[in-house]
Amino acid sequence: MVEIGADGRTWLLSGPTSSYGLRLGDEDELVHLHWGPRIELADAEALAAGPGPEYWAFEATLDGHEEYPVEGGPRFVRPALSVRTPERRGTEWRFEGYETDGADPEGGAGGGELRLRFSDSGLGITLHYRMRAGADVVERWVTLANEGPVLEVLRADSATWTLPRRDGWRLSQLHGRWAAESRLVRSELTYGEKIIGSRRGHTGHQHLPWVALDADGTATEELGEVYGCALAWSGTWRIAVAQLPDARVQITGGAGYDDSGLLRLEPGESFVTPVFAGLWSDGGFGGASRAWHAYQRAYVIPDADQDRPVLYNSWEATEFDISEEQQRALARRAAETGVELFVVDDGWFGARTSDRAGLGDWTPNPDRFPGGLEPLGDYVHGLGMRFGIWVEPEMVNPDSELYRAHPDWVQFQPGRKRTELRNQLVLNLAREEVQEYLWEQLDALLSSAPIDYVKWDFNRSFTDAGWPGEAYPQRLWVDHVHALYGLLDRLRAAHPTVAFESCSGGGGRIDLGIMARTDQVWTSDNTDPLDRLAIQHGFSQVHPARAMAAWVTDSPNTQLNGRVSSLRFRFVSAMAGVLGVGGDLTRWGEEELAEARSWVELYKEIRPVVQRGDLYRLRAPEGGLSAVQYVRDGEVVVLAWLQAQHYGEPAAPVRLRGLDPSASYECLETGEIHRGAVLLHHGVRTGLRGDLDAAVIRLRRR
Ligand code: DGJ
Repeated sequence: MVEIGADGRTWLLSGPTSSYGLRLGDEDELVHLHWGPRIELADAEALAAGPGPEYWAFEATLDGHEEYPVEGGPRFVRPALSVRTPERRGTEWRFEGYETDGADPEGGAGGGELRLRFSDSGLGITLHYRMRAGADVVERWVTLANEGPVLEVLRADSATWTLPRRDGWRLSQLHGRWAAESRLVRSELTYGEKIIGSRRGHTGHQHLPWVALDADGTATEELGEVYGCALAWSGTWRIAVAQLPDARVQITGGAGYDDSGLLRLEPGESFVTPVFAGLWSDGGFGGASRAWHAYQRAYVIPDADQDRPVLYNSWEATEFDISEEQQRALARRAAETGVELFVVDDGWFGARTSDRAGLGDWTPNPDRFPGGLEPLGDYVHGLGMRFGIWVEPEMVNPDSELYRAHPDWVQFQPGRKRTELRNQLVLNLAREEVQEYLWEQLDALLSSAPIDYVKWDFNRSFTDAGWPGEAYPQRLWVDHVHALYGLLDRLRAAHPTVAFESCSGGGGRIDLGIMARTDQVWTSDNTDPLDRLAIQHGFSQVHPARAMAAWVTDSPNTQLNGRVSSLRFRFVSAMAGVLGVGGDLTRWGEEELAEARSWVELYKEIRPVVQRGDLYRLRAPEGGLSAVQYVRDGEVVVLAWLQAQHYGEPAAPVRLRGLDPSASYECLETGEIHRGAVLLHHGVRTGLRGDLDAAVIRLRRR
């Protein structure tokens, strides 16, 4: 809902529990008023009428207060917008007007959008604010429309978020690297700037584009105020968290890492920034996560009301050494285990018998699949499963038909080395002929066989991003992402029953932008069930289990560490998200297969609760005993893991959350009846013992 002040210069957006307010001053300065608990328009107007920022010698009065600090004039903070023409640099905007959708004088709970229009010498700048019905997430983005002379956009952030004055702020972030993504770390914020981002052309394994801040380090998992921001962009990006000299905190973020040139805007051209979404919650880190999850299930992830199937993926079992017969054998085993979707990973196309050749040639390898993919697809369907394939469309091996035909279709700088990583180069997706080639290849591929699922991979970062002949600043960093989104959108529209998975060497492309176009994401190439607990703990801070793919693979772990773990531990770890199986099933014995079958059966029973329920992190993985809980419509699932038992001490009971204290709950494992108040205050015993033990506890409200 959007409310507008009497003089048309104060605006208040409100969701179910929070509000966001802003005010236009006499000099057309747009200042922040409020972001926090839900307030009334009269409160926002009182804030607007209150004392303005104080003057302090050598400081700019507007700093730390503006909604979208531009460059130029009395400002010393990092500008969200920086533009230049051959004559001048910076922005001096005038307010032109505003529009709202969802303005509601009755104070309803529906969504609403506010657009504020400014202009500066032919450059139109529109700031967008939107709250979706029933959600507390504020979505912000900016449109630049150039009706003046050619303009260089050095920086165009999506939003600047202003936090209220508090004595101290703590920053939470998700950091990592390949096979170690999305690990949560919290640190005290100090004066200056903390910058996270990616200059790699994709979201990156190093940081998820999300931060959370809590005041005075007071928030706990279930209590306290938490502010969070997440960027919907799958290319190069930056989020800067600044603590200013007066201790005010602002968070600025958007596409592009450096300030040296995002793109050129020709007369008549526009640029729309990605969405930077913000959320205030007073339910602690857990409450904030649940609000993010609900928002993504309602407004970001396609068809999130439908459960994702249990998949099998052959990568860890076969790597590049694949054949149709071997895939059929794996498929038979997968079907017996209860798998619902069988995915052939890398190695089925072109001359792809190793990572040295074939990327770019999206037709089945004739030695491996003489009849194409159709016979295997039909066979998999005949076994009662859906059929999926792996692709990596944005890349090319120099040893490929595509590269031999079009060596200039890659990103490169004239006269410079073309850096190969994993023996591959990045296609220049900003070129229309490349987009068209990929569309034709992929559309033909999806039409050539009964394919229900595409795992879309991206296995190297940009290094030589150049487009010979194009004027600087070149748009290819931004246009690559738009072309990727465009391709996915077009393929989804043409093949509406095909689901997509976002993968980038594991979790190198996880963000709200790609999640709006894919059905699930590959969380990490690390399938070790113990390491995964920490990775999943981090992932769950912002993204829901419904999108988090997790596989059960072989023991000892073949990819990373040789760790030995029970099937029970591996399954319960992977059941915390969208369950998959990725081990070499042809080597699993009858007993293992039978056990796997019963775990898959159990997962199917709890799946609606795990994938669509409210998630409570009961205990974090670092303590040795960890647990998560999911609640949906009176159904409760607890997954618990014990890393190692010490001194024979029994594992502590796990206190549950989100239950009705006055209700009774039946444990489906034991038939015992538990009182809600007891489960909440005293907890439930997990019975975990020894090393790497795990348990599933199901409760149903009576
Ligand atoms: C990286 C992915 O993360 C793996 O799962 C697998 O698909 C390989 N690429 C294949 O090359």
